[in-house]
Amino acid sequence: MRVLSGIQPSGHLHIGNFFGMMRSMIQWQAKSELFCFIVNLHALTTVNDGPLLALNTLEAATDFLALGLDPDKSHFWVQGDVSEHAELTWILHNFTSMGLLERSHSYKDKISRGLVPNHGLFAYPVLMAADILLYQANLVPVGQDQKQHLEIARDIAGTFNHVFGPTFTLPEPGIDENLATIPGLDGQKMSKSYNNAINIFIPKDELKKRVMAIVTDARAVDEPKDPDNCNLFAISKLFLSDAAVAELRERYLKPGLKYGEVKKELVEIIWNFFAPYRQAREDLAKRPDFIRDVMREGAQKASRVAQETMEVVRVKVGLKY
Ligand code: ADP
Ligand code: TRP
Repeated sequence: MRVLSGIQPSGHLHIGNFFGMMRSMIQWQAKSELFCFIVNLHALTTVNDGPLLALNTLEAATDFLALGLDPDKSHFWVQGDVSEHAELTWILHNFTSMGLLERSHSYKDKISRGLVPNHGLFAYPVLMAADILLYQANLVPVGQDQKQHLEIARDIAGTFNHVFGPTFTLPEPGIDENLATIPGLDGQKMSKSYNNAINIFIPKDELKKRVMAIVTDARAVDEPKDPDNCNLFAISKLFLSDAAVAELRERYLKPGLKYGEVKKELVEIIWNFFAPYRQAREDLAKRPDFIRDVMREGAQKASRVAQETMEVVRVKVGLKY
């Protein structure tokens, strides 16, 4: 089975990315043919600063490697290093109806947040469809926000297959219901673009500041609290065993719980959770050329698979003459 997903290098990777996508990708490498990539072409839709995009790309690759992604057990590369992504995108544009893209929630949401409605932003889902279809992926682990993009990819694949006969595998979204939308400090979806994220590799003093900024309700210490509508509880839960979640729930339901204490505990919990990876992250960060070599080799490995699909597609659409 082929499992595939990508992540944008549009800022520091955060715990929403980790629980929504990165952790399951790293777990899949032992039991599937894994395709994992840094989508720098997608990030161009929002990052207009060359040196920053280049830096973020290297950092995202470093984060993934530090967290345990093994390039020998997977295909791990930077999207823009494999030119077939752009080539297939152009071909797929011609099998994508305007209405399909006009219905995109993600596009509408970005425009409502003030981004310039340029064509890259509008066509974003077509590039994502090409990313997936190029590798004939069966399963795409993502957070809930990507569900509609997966539906668009399936729709485009279906249209192409209808015209030219079976060509592309229809991908299934891999969304874990319990981790579909990790909340940020303010209770909205945690995102690089909402300034509400807790980054994975964050210095401890900043981690403290971020955790202390988690919004809670105004219930007094002597009142019972509501774990099911508490952002702090939702974030804490990610890092705790079932028994520890049950224990924390009990504390919420009894009078006397201080949110400040739960926050102090959470700082230590997050810090310790990522501790095993922090040293690896520091060591890798000192070797940027090594990371570049890993990514280039990864691109060659991915390109071989992409070429197999493109050979077929070029013949079918008539680009081979
Ligand atoms: P961001 O919204 O921070 O820019 P990306 O769009 O790069 O994140 O998302 C990369 C992956 O992480 C996607 O699969 C996305 O669904 C997942 N993801 C991002 N934020 C969250 C979140 N808050 N909860 C669950 N999954 C998330
Ligand atoms: N759009 C995805 C996001 O913002 C990133 C992405 C690009 C992706 N290409 C992909 C995810 C292919 C899964 C498969 O998170």
